[in-house]
Amino acid sequence: MIARIRAALLPWYRAHRRSLPWREASDPYAVWVSETMLQQTQVRTVIPYFTRWMERFPTVTALAEAPLEEVLRYWAGLGYYARARHLHAAARDVVERYGGALPADLDALLALPGIGRYTAGAILSIAFGVRAPILDGNAIRVFSRLFLVEGDPGSARVQRRLWELAEALVPEDAPGDFNQGVMELGATICLPEEPRCDSCPLAGECAALATGRVAELPQARRRAQTVREEHVCAVLREQDRVLMVRRPPEKLWGGLWELPRARRRSEESLAECAARAMRETVALEVIPGAPLAVTRHVVTHHQITLHAVAVDAARGTPVATGCDAWEWVPLAEAAEHRPVSAPQARILRALTGGLAHPREVN
Ligand code: ADE
Repeated sequence: MIARIRAALLPWYRAHRRSLPWREASDPYAVWVSETMLQQTQVRTVIPYFTRWMERFPTVTALAEAPLEEVLRYWAGLGYYARARHLHAAARDVVERYGGALPADLDALLALPGIGRYTAGAILSIAFGVRAPILDGNAIRVFSRLFLVEGDPGSARVQRRLWELAEALVPEDAPGDFNQGVMELGATICLPEEPRCDSCPLAGECAALATGRVAELPQARRRAQTVREEHVCAVLREQDRVLMVRRPPEKLWGGLWELPRARRRSEESLAECAARAMRETVALEVIPGAPLAVTRHVVTHHQITLHAVAVDAARGTPVATGCDAWEWVPLAEAAEHRPVSAPQARILRALTGGLAHPREVN
């Protein structure tokens, strides 16, 4: 069965593979960047980001030499910014330890920040032609159906089983094409809803298809409950400029610039929360004014409603107490010339438009 799967998948992949910018060359760095971007983001969204990134940071050394803030700016909008911070830190390690060339060695790759089993397997197989397995969401779906893998794919037991299958299936010859073929099949044929089994090159091998269980597999993961949060950011203006702060490097939106922000507490009004945001990030006492805009943002299992509230400073100058830095930024360029999160960019663009009434922006 393994031999038949390999024999059917490889020619299918070579005939049907989408032409994607990172598939043009097997540069290990390009594979690393693209696979990192693709981890939590769709192909369609990744393409323009990848192209811009490779123009600005064409090599590991170029990335290592760039300031983190610029790296974050090229990532801004892709989300999960730890990926960019790790890429940057790992690029510096690769320059220091390996003279700027990614090592073709599993343990050496796994020791780099942000590189896990999946990314290491992708780099080894796609860029170096090394027989190494990969397992992402698409591969999980394909293998679960082919081999009737039951149970929660997030559980340790099922993960172990799926990695074993990935390991057993990946061939010595063309491991990169095989791995990409599995993912491509998951992305275009073996779809979560309404899979196109009549076009599938592995239909004859598929245990789920043979037993009428395609729709049941893989079992739905147990999801953490969505947490709803409200955040308030304070808009302090000085003519055409607005006060922005840079977040500490860790956690959500680490290293990005934003309007001073706090998570709203229960019983706290928008105005009170805006005043607290200013107090906690830049130690300024302010007089809160009107709500200006609101937007919604979903990240992992958090659903964040972000309000923007105008504030006036009573007196004093900002001091970076709860942020890494602060700056007066011309409003017109704040969303484009700084690394900011997607919801902050929406708020900033709405403010640039000069809002007369609070409104939802997206
Ligand atoms: N998803 C993530 N990486 C991929 C790749 N190399 N080919 C197809 N789909 C993918």
